[in-house]
Amino acid sequence: MHTTRWTFCVEPKHISYIRYTLESYDGILTVTTLDPALSLIELKIAPGCEDITRAVLHALEQEEGIKLIKNGAAKTFFIKTMGCQMNEYDSDYVAQLLINNGLVPTDAPEKADLILINTCTVRAKPDQKAYSFLGRVHVLKQKNHDIVIGVIGCLAQKQGKTIIDRFPYVDMVIGPREIGEIVKLYRKIADTGKRKKLVATSLDRDIPPSVFSPGYFQNRVTGFISIMQGCNNFCTYCSVPYVRGREVCRSSDDILKEAEHLVSQGIKDITLLGQNVNSYIWTGKTGKQYDFASLLKEVSQKHELCRLRFTTSHPKDLSDRLIACFADLKNLCNHIHLPVQSGSNRILSRMKRRYTKEQYLDLIRKLREAREDIAITSDIIVGFPGETDQDFEMTLDLVRQVQFDSIFSFKYSDRKGTVAEKMDFKVEEEKKSQRLRVLQEIQKQITLEKNKMLEGTCQEVLVEGFSKRGRQFSGRTTTGKIVNFSSDNTHIGTFVNVLIKKAFVNSLLGEKKDMDPWQ
Ligand code: 5AD
Ligand code: SF4
Repeated sequence: MHTTRWTFCVEPKHISYIRYTLESYDGILTVTTLDPALSLIELKIAPGCEDITRAVLHALEQEEGIKLIKNGAAKTFFIKTMGCQMNEYDSDYVAQLLINNGLVPTDAPEKADLILINTCTVRAKPDQKAYSFLGRVHVLKQKNHDIVIGVIGCLAQKQGKTIIDRFPYVDMVIGPREIGEIVKLYRKIADTGKRKKLVATSLDRDIPPSVFSPGYFQNRVTGFISIMQGCNNFCTYCSVPYVRGREVCRSSDDILKEAEHLVSQGIKDITLLGQNVNSYIWTGKTGKQYDFASLLKEVSQKHELCRLRFTTSHPKDLSDRLIACFADLKNLCNHIHLPVQSGSNRILSRMKRRYTKEQYLDLIRKLREAREDIAITSDIIVGFPGETDQDFEMTLDLVRQVQFDSIFSFKYSDRKGTVAEKMDFKVEEEKKSQRLRVLQEIQKQITLEKNKMLEGTCQEVLVEGFSKRGRQFSGRTTTGKIVNFSSDNTHIGTFVNVLIKKAFVNSLLGEKKDMDPWQ
């Protein structure tokens, strides 16, 4: 005899947490909240406790003033997401597929029948993070052999079967192009009870169709839409083309439908995602040709009240048409992420970036002409093979010249199979660390100075949730800067006017202005 598990939907949907354990003579009955956002609770009924179940449910309904609607003996799943926004999108995709197929999300791996780890492999650090999480999951599997464990995403693609060789308790390995198959693969393992290991890492599949699970985005303010997969650029340091395959675009119809859905679910800020959005190309059903600028225009016009963003742009493909969007589209946010990677033309050429520092600076000029106050952020790699002190100085010069709002900076890390991995003149680890420190210190001052210029100004903030310490509301400006402020009557998901009182490197502190025209 096994423990029986039932899930219930709580009406009205405003519970935050229910925990309840009843120990009877015969065993234990527990009630736990699975996912507060979806108002789902789970009942675990040990053999012998079946008779008291009805009484417990009745008592719960009476005491809490709620109604419990039976959802079935559903399996639960937990997804750990690492890496970039593309992975966040993929995790949401997988979650919705699983929900639509009767599984129920849970907020802790200990409560899950299916644990998925969505991995990243862009640098060495994320690889290690994934392996360390797998170690934690092993402990759970030792306690309960029925749990199904899946490694998905970029590291799964890169390592394939070797993940199972190294971690034999992993049941399935699924690359990013195969996530549409997740339900089929999971069922093969869970339903048959056969513990056959499954590896799915084809890169040839088309992008699977959009998936919608009504209510999934409830309580969220921002959302992503993947407009394309993969990359054709083969920058010499980058593993992306190998693990996400060649560029494939999602149909304009699917993208527009997803935007419609997100907005209908209350999302107020959408980011269109791709490794290189500027090379988006599609011919719609009506014969209309879409490049990225025309796609952006259409989404913008259809959802005028929703903030729009996009990432990532490759400087070599940033067209004048796209730059003009910053002048023309009111709801396109004042921000562009434009990874420069290095300020030395010699290193840019070794990276195979196909633009020069001068061309990059010209783009910055054009962007600032289109939108004077546009925030510009970037990615920079230090210690690329062959980078001399002089090359590094050129990167620092570029950083001082552009005055980025912020940057993500990384030490170069060898990625297997890339061209750079085989290059000579690798930079010592210590030198890389030292360069990273210098770069980050210079950028920190620039970021702080830029943020200080906002003190005393009024900023439109989209409230996303609570600050890290939880005492204030937290949101973002159109430029993507975090603003924290106190208020008694603010609602998450609304736009408020905030007077900036104090600027820090990573956030701004403000005061909500009364008489908001937005409220
Ligand atoms: N080493 C260090 N940084 C890298 N990036 C990509 N590949 C590597 C690598 N091998 C950085 C780039 C890219 C960002 C997402 O990660 O700056 O823009
Ligand atoms: Fe990697 Fe270059 Fe493609 Fe970006 S554009 S994903 S850095 S190969």
